[in-house]
Amino acid sequence: MADKNTGSADSNRVLIFDTTLRDGEQSPGASMTLDEKLQIAELLDDMGVDVIEAGFPIASNGDFESVREVARVVKNAVVCGLARAGVKDIERAADALRGAKRGRIHTFLSTSPVHMKHKLQMEPEQVLEAVVSSVTHARNLVDNVEWSPEDATRTDHDFLCRCVEAAIKAGATTINIPDTVGYSVPAEYGALIAMLRERVPNIDQAVISTHCHNDLGLAVANSLSGVANGARQVECTINGIGERAGNAALEEIVMALKVRQDAMPYETGIDTTMIARASRLVAAVTAFPVQYNKAIVGQNAFAHESGIHQDGMLKNNQTYEIMTPESVGITKSSLVMGKHSGRHAFREKLRELGYELGQNAMEDAFTRFKDLADKKKFVFDDDIIALVDDEVARGSEKIRFVSLRVIAGSTGPQEATLELDVEGTRKSVTATGSGPVDATFNAIKELVPHDASLQLYQVHAVTEGTDAQAEVSVRLEEAGKTVTGRGADTDTLVASARAYVSALNKLLVKRQRHAPGAEQAASAASE
Ligand code: KIV
Ligand code: ZN
Repeated sequence: MADKNTGSADSNRVLIFDTTLRDGEQSPGASMTLDEKLQIAELLDDMGVDVIEAGFPIASNGDFESVREVARVVKNAVVCGLARAGVKDIERAADALRGAKRGRIHTFLSTSPVHMKHKLQMEPEQVLEAVVSSVTHARNLVDNVEWSPEDATRTDHDFLCRCVEAAIKAGATTINIPDTVGYSVPAEYGALIAMLRERVPNIDQAVISTHCHNDLGLAVANSLSGVANGARQVECTINGIGERAGNAALEEIVMALKVRQDAMPYETGIDTTMIARASRLVAAVTAFPVQYNKAIVGQNAFAHESGIHQDGMLKNNQTYEIMTPESVGITKSSLVMGKHSGRHAFREKLRELGYELGQNAMEDAFTRFKDLADKKKFVFDDDIIALVDDEVARGSEKIRFVSLRVIAGSTGPQEATLELDVEGTRKSVTATGSGPVDATFNAIKELVPHDASLQLYQVHAVTEGTDAQAEVSVRLEEAGKTVTGRGADTDTLVASARAYVSALNKLLVKRQRHAPGAEQAASAASE
C-alpha cells in the first residue's frame, strides 16, 4: 500500500506518481539508456516522488532490466512496473520488481466501447472477467496493485463502475482513471472522479489516481480537477513529456498546489527546489528542449522584459512574481568562473547547480570546462549546465566524438575530416557535402554506415555573444523508431557532430532493445 495516512480522500496529502521513465519514454524520439534512467530515478527518489513507474517489463529485455535496476537503487519511493492484463505480462513485472523495497504492479485493460470493439475485440463481459483475473493474479504476487481502465474518460459510466468495483474486490489498492486520449475537460473529469466516489460501494478501499494526457492542453487542469474531487494520486512526468502531446507536467501540478494553497489545500512530499535540476536532466537525456515559455521550468518563466515589469520587480518582486525562481531551484545565471578556477571551485559550482558527478564524469566535465574557459571569455552558470548535461547524456556511448576539422566558405566543396572512437577503435575519414554540416554528417555516415534519415536539425545559443556555446539537437528516424541526440560546444559544427553521434548511440540502444530474441510486445510498447 501507499504510505499510511495518505491517499484517502479525507487526507490532504496527494501522492505524486512519476511516469517519466514509462509514459515519458514513449514520447517519439525520447529513448533513454539504462544509466540515464537510473540517474533520473535516483533524482526523483531524492526529490520526494512517492511512486516511480520505471517501465514496461514485458516490452523488451531492456525495459525489464531498467525496471529491475531502478527497483534495486531506489530507496524510498514505491517502484512500479506496467503490465497488460495477461499472465505473462504480470509475471514479468513481478520478476522485475523482486528486488524493490516497495514494488507495485500496474495492470491495465481498455474499457471504452471503441477500444473493446476494435483494439481488444472483446465483449464487455469478457473484459470484466479479465479485470478480475488479472488483478487477482497480480495481487497474489505483490500486495500493492494498481489497476487502470484504459480510455476511462470515453467509457460508459455503469460499466466503469462495475469494473472499478470488481478490481478493488480482486485486490487493487489504487484505481487510476486515465484520460488516455486527452479528450476530457476539467469539469467533466472532476465529475467522473466524484461519480466513482459516489457510486462504487468499495471505493474507499483504494486510492483514486489521475492520469491525464495533454492533447487539448488540459492535462494539468484535468488532474487538479480530479484532486479537487477526491483523487489523491496524480500521474505525471517531468517537463510533461509523454505519448503524443505528453502527460500532465509534474512541476506544474506540484507548484500549482504549493502556490495556490488557498484555493487547493493539498500537500505533496516534493522538494520543489529540485524541480529545475530534474527538468534539466530529463531535457538532457531525452534531448527534448524545454519550450522557452513553459510554465515553471521554461527559460522565460522568470524573465521580465518590459520596462514596466522590470520597474515593478525592482520595487517589490511580488508585483509580477507569484513564486520565486529559487523555490523551484533556479538561480540567476551569473558570471562564474574563468580558466584559473580549480577543481575544488568547479566541484562546488556543480554542487550549487545541483549536480553530484562520479569521479570519472567529474574529471571529464572539468577537462571540458577548462577547454571552454580557454575559448570563451566569460563562463556562465548556463554554460556549465550545458556542458555537464552534454556529458551526462553521453555517459555510456559506444561511438564517441574525437575531433573534427572543417573547410567551409563560399567556394566549395565544403569538406569535413572527422575522427570517431567506435567501440574502442579510432577511425577517421574526410567527406564532402553541400555545406559544412552536410559534409560533417556525411563523414559520420561513412564511419558508421546506417540508413536512418535526418528528421530534425536545430541549433540554439546557450548564452549571448558570438563566443556562446551552441546547443544542437538532431533527430534520426529508422524503421519507424525516432531518437534525438544533443550536443554542445562553442563550435557549432562540433556541437552538430556530437549531437548526431549522440543520436546514433541512442539508435544502437533502440536496435538492441528491439532485436529479434529480445522478448517484446511490439504493440504493448505503443499502448
Ligand atoms: O494513457 C494511458 O491510458 C496509459 C495507461 C497504460 C495507464 O498510459
Ligand atoms: Zn498514458
